[in-house]
This record gives sequence, structure tokens and C-alpha cells, in this order.
Amino acid sequence: MALLLSFWAALVPSLSSVVAQHPIHSFETACSAFASAFNHPGVKVQFSQFLPQGYNLSITDYPQSCLDSQGSSPVQILGADVCRVAILVDTSANSSMTLEAWLPKAWTGRFLSGGNGGLSGCIQYTDLSYGSSSGFATVSGNNGHNGSSGAPFYTHPEVLEDYSYRAIYVGSIVGKQIAQAFYGRDASKSYFMGCSGGGRQGFKLAQSFPEVFDGIIAAAPALDFDSFIAWGAQLSSIAGFDTNSTEFISESLWKAIHEEVLDQCDGLDGALDGIIEDTDLCHPQYERLICNETANDSSKCLTRAQVGKVRALYEPLYNDNGSLLYPKLQPGTETTSFDTYFSGTLSSLFSDWFKYVVYNPTFDTETLSREDLIAAASYDPYNISTSKSDLSAFERRGGKLLTLHGFEDNIIPTDISTSYYHRVSEAMSRPPSSLDEFYRYFRVSGLSHCALGNGAYSVGMYSFGLIPNAMEQDPDDNVLSRIVAWVERGEAPEYIRGTAFVGAYPGSAIAYKRKHCKYPATNKYVGQGSFTSENSWTCL
Ligand SMILES: *[C@@H]1O[C@H](CO)[C@@H](O)[C@H](O)[C@H]1NC(C)=O
Ligand SMILES: *[C@@H]1O[C@H](CO)[C@@H](O)[C@H](O)[C@H]1NC(C)=O
Ligand SMILES: *[C@@H]1O[C@H](CO)[C@@H](O)[C@H](O)[C@H]1NC(C)=O
Ligand SMILES: *[C@@H]1O[C@H](CO)[C@@H](O)[C@H](O)[C@H]1NC(C)=O
Ligand SMILES: *[C@@H]1O[C@H](CO)[C@@H](O)[C@H](O)[C@H]1NC(C)=O
Ligand SMILES: *[C@@H]1O[C@H](CO)[C@@H](O)[C@H](O)[C@H]1NC(C)=O
Ligand SMILES: *[C@@H]1O[C@H](CO)[C@@H](O)[C@H](O)[C@H]1NC(C)=O
Ligand SMILES: *[C@@H]1O[C@H](CO)[C@@H](O)[C@H](O)[C@H]1NC(C)=O
Repeated sequence: MALLLSFWAALVPSLSSVVAQHPIHSFETACSAFASAFNHPGVKVQFSQFLPQGYNLSITDYPQSCLDSQGSSPVQILGADVCRVAILVDTSANSSMTLEAWLPKAWTGRFLSGGNGGLSGCIQYTDLSYGSSSGFATVSGNNGHNGSSGAPFYTHPEVLEDYSYRAIYVGSIVGKQIAQAFYGRDASKSYFMGCSGGGRQGFKLAQSFPEVFDGIIAAAPALDFDSFIAWGAQLSSIAGFDTNSTEFISESLWKAIHEEVLDQCDGLDGALDGIIEDTDLCHPQYERLICNETANDSSKCLTRAQVGKVRALYEPLYNDNGSLLYPKLQPGTETTSFDTYFSGTLSSLFSDWFKYVVYNPTFDTETLSREDLIAAASYDPYNISTSKSDLSAFERRGGKLLTLHGFEDNIIPTDISTSYYHRVSEAMSRPPSSLDEFYRYFRVSGLSHCALGNGAYSVGMYSFGLIPNAMEQDPDDNVLSRIVAWVERGEAPEYIRGTAFVGAYPGSAIAYKRKHCKYPATNKYVGQGSFTSENSWTCL
């Protein structure tokens, strides 16, 4: 890491203002001139183009695997006038990343860096649009490789190192320098926002590069990354790879299991609303689904062996000495976790890690043994685990860390955020009331992995293809607006309020709002009115 820092120290100081050399009214001219005006070893501006508000931008060279993994086209309708800058950045002597900076004409002086998810590899155009429409000079990068496959890591430790921590760090500091060079002054405050893999990046930045950001939103983080890989692979291996086996649990059977779990747990919070408000209270007894003489439809009832399997799938992963390696999945995710974990195939996130990082491409991931899981959990290239629990340097520099995790997360268990929170509390000898000064954690009911879900899941992390200005929203409803209010005005969040949409579809009418509590408080229905009234709930 020392090498990296000196490599970068040599590059950054001599960038000069381009906007300042052009008349203030000529944003467009300054933008087109930027590419040729900006010339520095290690940082190559490939092009700069002015894009007016309303412009329909089509990304033609977006990797197919990024399209596949995001399920959406990166085409963007511009929400603001921006200068779009595409940059190629050397991240080491033999590795590089691509980065885009969207620099809004109506700049508020703020900088935003967006994270990546999964094993990507994918510039997040929605982040670029959302951030720049909200007045942030915004960057998003490809994390050192193109696409969502782990294949580029194989025999390329420099690419793996970029993925583990380096690209997000380098991209962020180069992004700041690009904004400085373009506008002629430093950003007043810098922010990071990411979820999943991007949530892990947010924690990595707070842990190891505390000077870079004033405010960090790190959601549903893939913390303890190596254990997460082992745990996830174990789930698929328990679910089984032979979908013809009589013990295999079909998708329709998972639906029946989910209904049974809701029957047992939905009401525990006092509201029958289809949402398990606090999954900690839910301890399903799957035995109730065992087939008997009258309940004998095997698409709706379970064999004893299947009950054992369901139970094992909702258990944590332990080390050989009995210590916890990785927490369990939340009850309530029985159907939504099917594709990733229970479908009879090992998802590429996990198989790629075994094939291209832990072992080699010939490894047969359907023969995963306990030893293989432990091997993956114990291999921590470039400290990708992101488990350092002393955040005092980040606190000392005045940083604020807002983290949240959905209670319906079907990919990364909520409890990993909770477990990490406790480790920080212990490492820093700080009770929650004192951690609150710089680190606040919210558990969001009805939120799946990063987006969507059955409840009030929308908290301002995503634009959902719309063109909102985060800063025009009440900070209670929007985490981006909230982190700014916390950093710049000291207005720390006591809760974050989520929005639920009619039909759960973002962009349709608002169904209701619900406040989500700051850990360790949990939400209780106090029954004054309907469950859709936010005042019917209280954080205890
Ligand atoms: C933007 O362009 C794409 C094709 O590149 C098209 O499918 C889409 O309908 C356009 N959107 C709008 C709002 O014009
Ligand atoms: C890049 O450099 C690193 C560090 O010197 C080395 O480990 C790696 O093998 C190099 N990769 C290639 C493809 O040369
Ligand atoms: C990623 O794709 C961009 C084009 O979008 C290209 O310039 C860059 O070289 C690619 N990077 C790698 C590591 O292949
Ligand atoms: C399951 O059975 C079908 C048809 O009997 C067969 O084509 C398929 O290969 C089998 N799958 C496995 C994983 O054995
Ligand atoms: C069979 O199981 C169902 C629940 O699946 C239960 O309601 C019923 O009482 C059971 N019948 C017998 C005979 O155990
Ligand atoms: C299955 O249960 C139905 C009633 O739910 C009953 O009529 C039928 O006889 C049962 N079949 C067997 C094989 O026990
Ligand atoms: C259990 O094993 C882990 C990893 O091998 C180790 O870090 C931990 O200290 C051990 N715990 C005990 C209680 O021995
Ligand atoms: C990983 O973290 C440890 C402890 O902070 C540190 O000593 C080590 O240098 C780090 N390794 C890498 C490759 O960054």
C-alpha cells in the first residue's frame, strides 16, 4: 500500500484548472476543451463531451455481462447539464481502470463517488445521473476490469488488488482531482455511496483511507467477504446441485415454506402487513410442513429430510472450533433467495471466486467440500475481508458513516452489519450512544438486497431510472440528502424513512411511509391507526 501511495503522490499535484482558463459562461467550451487541456501521465482523459439536460445518452460499449447482471440498459436521460468526462487511469505499473466523471453545470461544490456491486467491473451510469442531477461532481469506475465475471482475476493479482481496494480508492482521488481541475477549486465536501460490493467499498474506505471522504453511505455491505463466499457456496451446496433428487426443494415448495414462515412470524410485530418487521423475533418451526396422510401434496409439504435441509440453510456457518464464521440468512427470504442460493446452480459470484481466486478454472464447484469452504474463508487476498474494526481515524477526521441493511436481504444477511457494528463497538470501547457521534446503523424492514422489497424500501440510494434531485427531498426520506445534512449541518439521523410504492413498483404512487430505526432500537407497532401510518410505529 505504501508503494501505491507514492505512485499516486507523484501524479496528482500538478493538475490545473481548465474552467478557470475559459469564460465563466462557456461551460460547453470548457467541457470540450478539457480532454486536450488535461494531460498527465497515468491519467488519460479519453474524451469530454457536454450533454444537455434531457439528452438521451446511449452507452454502446457497455459490457454484456454488466447488462445481464444489472438487468437494465444503461441508457440515461440526462437530468442536468453535465460535462461527461471519460478517463483511463493507471492503478499500478501494470493495471488500469476506466472512470467517468459527470460534472454538472449547476455544481454545488460537492463530490460523490459511487460504488460497484458483485464482482463488477461495471460503471454505474444510474449513479452518475443521480449524483450529477443532485449537484454533485460524480464519478463511477469499472473497478479495474470490465464486466461482472471474476475471470480477469485469474493469474492477474494486480486486477484482484484493484478489485479488493485499490480501484475505488484511486478512482475517488483521481475523480476529486478531475473535478478540481475542471472547476478550478477543490470540492467543499466529498461523499461516497455504495451498496453490496459497494457497501464493502464504503467500509474499506472508512477503515483504510479515512482521509478521502467526509460522509459515507455504505449499505448491505459484503463485509467479511471471504467468509461470505464460503457461506454462500455452502448454501448452494446444501440446497443441492441435483434438481431431480427427491430431497431437492422446488421453487413452488419454497413458496409454501415462505407462506408458513409468514404465518408464524408476520404478526409478531403486531401488524399483519406481509412484512416481518424484525426478523430477530422470528424462529420458524418448519416441522409444521411435514407431509402426513391428509397433507400429502409434495409440492406443498416437506419430507423430514427436506425439513432438515431448510433448517440447515437458515443456520450460520461455523468454524471447526465452533466460532461463528458468517451469520444466517433472515427468515422471510425463502422465495427471493431461490435464484441466488437454492436453485441447483452455484451462482457465478461464488463459482468465479473459487475458480479464479481460490483455486483454478478446472475446479469443479459441484464437489465443494467443507475443506474448500474453510480454504475460501481463510484466504484473504489484499485484505478484501474488510473486517478491520477500528474506525477511529475516520472519526478523528470528522467523517460520518451512515449504514443500512434490509431485513429482507436475500443475498447478504442483515446480521453481518449487526455483527460488524458490535465488533467496532468492542474494538473502540464505545457503546451505541457514543458510536452515534459518527457511525449510525439502520435496519430497514421490507427492503431486499439494496433495492426493492415488500415494504417501505426506498430510502434515496437509487434513482430507479427516474431523475430526482436528492437534495430537494427531506433528509428523513433520502440518505444522500441526509448524509449531507449530517456532515455539513450536524443534523444526524435519528431514523430514516422509507417509501413504499403501490404494487411495490418504484415510480408508481406512494403507498405509505415508515420510519426505520437506528440500531439497536427495533420498530414496534403501537396500533394507533393503520400499519401504513408512520405514527403507528415507534422505535424502542
Ligand atoms: C432513449 O434512446 C433509446 C434507444 O437508444 C430508446 O429506446 C428510448 O426510448 C429513448 N428514451 C427516450 C425517453 O426517448
Ligand atoms: C503486475 O505486477 C505485479 C507486481 O509486480 C505482478 O505480481 C504481476 O504478476 C504483474 N502482472 C503481469 C500481468 O505482468
Ligand atoms: C474496459 O473497456 C474500456 C472501453 O469501454 C476500454 O477502454 C478498457 O481498456 C477496458 N479495460 C480492460 C481492462 O479491458
Ligand atoms: C434430471 O432429469 C432430466 C430428465 O429426466 C434430465 O434430462 C436431467 O439431466 C436430470 N438432471 C440432473 C441434474 O440429473
Ligand atoms: C397434517 O398436517 C397439517 C398441516 O400441514 C395439519 O393441519 C394436520 O393436522 C395434520 N394431520 C395429521 C393427521 O397429523
Ligand atoms: C392425500 O390426502 C387426501 C386428502 O387431502 C386424501 O384424500 C388422499 O387419500 C391422500 N392420499 C394418500 C395416498 O394418502
Ligand atoms: C477459532 O478459529 C479461528 C480461525 O481459525 C480463530 O480466529 C479463533 O481465534 C478460534 N477461536 C477459538 C475460541 O479458538
Ligand atoms: C492487511 O492488513 C494487515 C493488518 O492491518 C496489514 O498488516 C497488511 O499489510 C495488509 N495487507 C495488504 C496486502 O494490504
